[in-house]
Amino acid sequence: MEKITVSLIKADIGGFPGHSTVHHKLIDTAKEQMQQAMEDGLLVDYHVLNAGDDLQLLMSHRKGVDAEEIHGLAWKTFEAATEVAKELKLHGAGQDLLGDAFSGNIRGMGPGIAELEFVERGSEPLVAYMMDKTEPGAFNYPIYKIFADPFNTAGLVVDPTMHAGYVFEVWDIKDKKKVFFRCPEELYSLLALIGAKSKYIIKRVFPKDTSPVPAEEAVAVISTEKLFFTAGKYVGKDDPVALVRSQSGLPALGEILEPFSMPYLVSGWMRGSHNGPIMPVSFADSQCTRFDGPPRVIAAGFQVSNGRLVGPADLFDDPSYDFARSKALEIADYMRAHGPFEPHRLPLEEMEYTTLPDILKKLEDRFEDTD
Ligand code: F6R
Ligand code: MG
Ligand code: MG
Repeated sequence: MEKITVSLIKADIGGFPGHSTVHHKLIDTAKEQMQQAMEDGLLVDYHVLNAGDDLQLLMSHRKGVDAEEIHGLAWKTFEAATEVAKELKLHGAGQDLLGDAFSGNIRGMGPGIAELEFVERGSEPLVAYMMDKTEPGAFNYPIYKIFADPFNTAGLVVDPTMHAGYVFEVWDIKDKKKVFFRCPEELYSLLALIGAKSKYIIKRVFPKDTSPVPAEEAVAVISTEKLFFTAGKYVGKDDPVALVRSQSGLPALGEILEPFSMPYLVSGWMRGSHNGPIMPVSFADSQCTRFDGPPRVIAAGFQVSNGRLVGPADLFDDPSYDFARSKALEIADYMRAHGPFEPHRLPLEEMEYTTLPDILKKLEDRFEDTD
């Protein structure tokens, strides 16, 4: 069976206004490039979306993961949209395009990437999550809940095709290492790492060999790109994306949406320097306004049909997430009341990736020895 690949590649190449959302002209420009690529036979299907100030390219194709042609298309699309962003003088035009010229792979060049290659099942539900004003570690909590927590995912308890659990691939993004954990057997080891979400990040989840989905096919993938490590300086947070497959031996759609009923704390928000609640919102509500936030997540649902991305369904456009949103706003108020104090502001170690070290440097000479 021919495999299909779904690639979600995103970049902030100019905000409107400030860092709040994406101007429609950038979306139109991206759509033109994608449409041409579909007509040329490179793409099977595509959707252009935005989460806050990030332009999101969701593409299906037969070229596999890390394909030069697909990454090149994304780069070319971001470049074309950057031209428009510059012409409109949008804020931070071209911000995430860190490399000068594309040279085969978009990884490490600024944009965030999540790609899944699989043999399409009889029914293939897929959710694309897109977050703004936070970092890749923000996916640790929900991905853990979806694939390892029986209080979240009833299928882990009652569905024989899920009962054996899943395998988690965790990356240490600071030391560039990876490790695999089989869960539930190694649940506590997994949690020992992924609780430290600025360093250890769930990259992929695989089924076990009792699953109807082949064990070598990832069923979830998260973007792990860190702009700071590429640019060597603060260029905003690395607003992450994820793709999650669902149903028939995988967590049900409702199980993969359930963790977002709790507006858990993530780091990012204003100047990439603050902890705050993640708020699940509809596409229309994904602009980041209050204190450049609060951090938001949208969920675009699809059925994949012979490579076509049938959708999107705007999954958080639903009153059943109203309480999560209200709670997020209440937590936002509470956190904001701390002003520049931790734990609203990130701990010093994390502030290394922001502009605070420049301020601290200025004060260096003022220090005298204590008694
Ligand atoms: C956070 C973010 C914004 C900016 C802030 C300052 O990820 O993008 O909160 O950090 O608006 O932006 P500049 O320095 O562009 O004025
Ligand atoms: Mg921005
Ligand atoms: Mg952003």
